[in-house]
Amino acid sequence: MKKDTIAIIDFGAINSQAAAKIVRNLNVYCEVLPCTAPVEKIAALAPKAVILQRGADCGERTIGREPAADIASLGVPVLDLAACGMSEAKIDAFLTEVGAAREWTTDAFIEEAIASIRETVGDKRVLLAMSGGVDSSVCAVLVHRAVGKQLTCVFVDHGLMRKDEPEQVCRVFRDQFGIDLVHVDGEARFLGNLKGVTDPEQKRKIIGETFIRVFEEEARKAGEPDYLVQGTIYPDIIESGWDGGKQVKSHHNVGGLPKNIDFKGLVEPIKYLFKDEVRRVALKLGLPESIAMRQPFPGPGLGVRCIGELTKEKLDILREADAIFREEMAESGMAAQASQYFAILTGNRSVGVKDDARTYAYTVALRAVRTGDFMTAKFVHLPMEMLETVSERITSAVPQVNRVVYDVTSKPPATIEWE
Ligand code: XMP
Repeated sequence: MKKDTIAIIDFGAINSQAAAKIVRNLNVYCEVLPCTAPVEKIAALAPKAVILQRGADCGERTIGREPAADIASLGVPVLDLAACGMSEAKIDAFLTEVGAAREWTTDAFIEEAIASIRETVGDKRVLLAMSGGVDSSVCAVLVHRAVGKQLTCVFVDHGLMRKDEPEQVCRVFRDQFGIDLVHVDGEARFLGNLKGVTDPEQKRKIIGETFIRVFEEEARKAGEPDYLVQGTIYPDIIESGWDGGKQVKSHHNVGGLPKNIDFKGLVEPIKYLFKDEVRRVALKLGLPESIAMRQPFPGPGLGVRCIGELTKEKLDILREADAIFREEMAESGMAAQASQYFAILTGNRSVGVKDDARTYAYTVALRAVRTGDFMTAKFVHLPMEMLETVSERITSAVPQVNRVVYDVTSKPPATIEWE
């Protein structure tokens, strides 16, 4: 089905997704192209209309520049945001004026995605690396709906997941959806490779490399399927469309997949979706809220939240403390205020007192930040009473911890993760 498409030409707006999100929320499909795009590329979308994303509201980085393409030659209506501002009402009126069909809905997306996966894959086999995050979860359910048993999901459990996460992944995908999920319990192997390693970058590298080795082995065991599923989402594509004049977000590549397995092709079912659209699709597909609304979790997992050498004992302490903090964040309603929140097991130990006896135990730090793009972030002002409850719960439930602190640093100068 060919849908009405709006082409958004971006002049390097600070938030290059702003206009597209408005248009999509108005149920009209759109794509974003940089102002350097040649006219053929824009014409290939057969756009119903064009929106120029520039002007004061956009905080554009290429002020004044004209589009490389001769937009008028496309012969379609043009809305210039430099003239009307980033206004939902103006964009809404424009979409009505040009007669753009309001057909971009979650249901329509799901139906089209399934049809397109079926067409691409045919009767071939498909492999997917399941992380438990919302992107790979949505991909798994879509591909499974499209080609059922032709899909194998490999969940490489590095032993650095949060409390109860591996069990949840298995329960949801195997039991609820009946997906063929291979759970690789890699804890001993990962921790073995990480023994004695304290440098954060070295830890990342070892986790990433071990991940690739394990995934390659599983791909071989699965008979080297023809297609690999990738959970690329639209912001990744918009960001990579800009070559100059913009800080390129460094995509931490743990969970990056091996290059030397010979796949016939890639299946990228959600590459035109924004994150909030992915979450809506997740809910529509029946994924639990804990997965659909899951906060971002780094590829190296708790490996970068447990300072210094990683041991099972330290990771278990962190898992308990982190679970309590997340529970209280949800309970208090503060979870909705934070983009990411978690506990860190600092390498620090300090003196305390319990039942009249001296203790010498770990310090747990709590972090909760709010951010749009994860390049900068503000720490969240959590209520003192809530922090007090978390501290009391952690120090009584986790005997190896006698001190809890809250991180009141924004990014910059700190980063979100501690390592
Ligand atoms: P930082 O700590 O750089 O984090 O302020 C920014 C965002 O990136 C995530 N992060 C990672 N994600 N592999 C990942 O997949 C990594 O090695 C990694 N390090 C940081 C972090 O959780 C935050 O969302």
